[in-house]
Amino acid sequence: MVDLEAFKKIAVQAAKRGGKILKAGLQQEITVSYKEALEIVTNIDTRSEKAIVTLISRYFPDHQIMAEEGSGRESRSPYKWIIDPLDGTTNFSHRFPFFCVSIALEVKGRVCLGVIYDPVRRELFSAEKGKGAFLNGLPIQISSVKGLKQSLLVTGFSYDIQTDPENTFNHFINFTLNAQAVRRTGSAALDLCYVAAGRFDGFWETKLRPWDIAAGSLILREAGGRITDFTGGAYSIYEDEILATNRKIHKEMIEILKKKKT
Ligand code: IPD
Ligand code: CA
Ligand code: CA
Repeated sequence: MVDLEAFKKIAVQAAKRGGKILKAGLQQEITVSYKEALEIVTNIDTRSEKAIVTLISRYFPDHQIMAEEGSGRESRSPYKWIIDPLDGTTNFSHRFPFFCVSIALEVKGRVCLGVIYDPVRRELFSAEKGKGAFLNGLPIQISSVKGLKQSLLVTGFSYDIQTDPENTFNHFINFTLNAQAVRRTGSAALDLCYVAAGRFDGFWETKLRPWDIAAGSLILREAGGRITDFTGGAYSIYEDEILATNRKIHKEMIEILKKKKT
């Protein structure tokens, strides 16, 4: 197996550099541009991405980069960095302090390293394949909650929620009626870390992109969690559905996701 330590060091440095820009950005002017009716990007997303990509490129100039705001590049390298320079942009644009930087490294198509940094709480979540998951250097694990009725769940909605007739409100209603409670935080990357750390018990969402979930899905798996599509089938960061849990409530969540109507 590849020794990922050198990569991890740079990933952590890059996530902290991006995080510093985000935290400082909360006190600065934030300019917003619209990608779609609800989907925005700010000057701070772009600033964070530039700093992260510049740092990674300095150390690994031939690696591939997939970055949300477009400063990526393709190459024949087996290494691919997957970067969300600001996950939680809508929160950030309102100065609601719940957002993060997410950086993952794929080696030959498999996510092997994940780092997520929340600069407001100074929480650094990290994982290397096969080596466990950590929060600020201490091991984390999924919750021991056994039933849906006792579970705190989390979800998010895609930016086309107001126009897509196939929206997922039915799942939101069904889970609200069957779990202890459901939250909607606005950062899928942190949602996954929070399931990994046992703060939430389960997470579901549709239409996420690789940069939202690549690092978080490794961190959750390494903390003992389970990730599948909505039917329990194989999960990929390039597919539409994600169901991520503490394992114990996975089957119960699949049963709820089968329901089409409330
Ligand atoms: C978004 C967040 C949000 C999720 C959206 C994502 P962004 O990412 O992760 O929680 O519900 O679907 O697009 O745009 O803030 O990087
Ligand atoms: Ca995102
Ligand atoms: Ca983003």
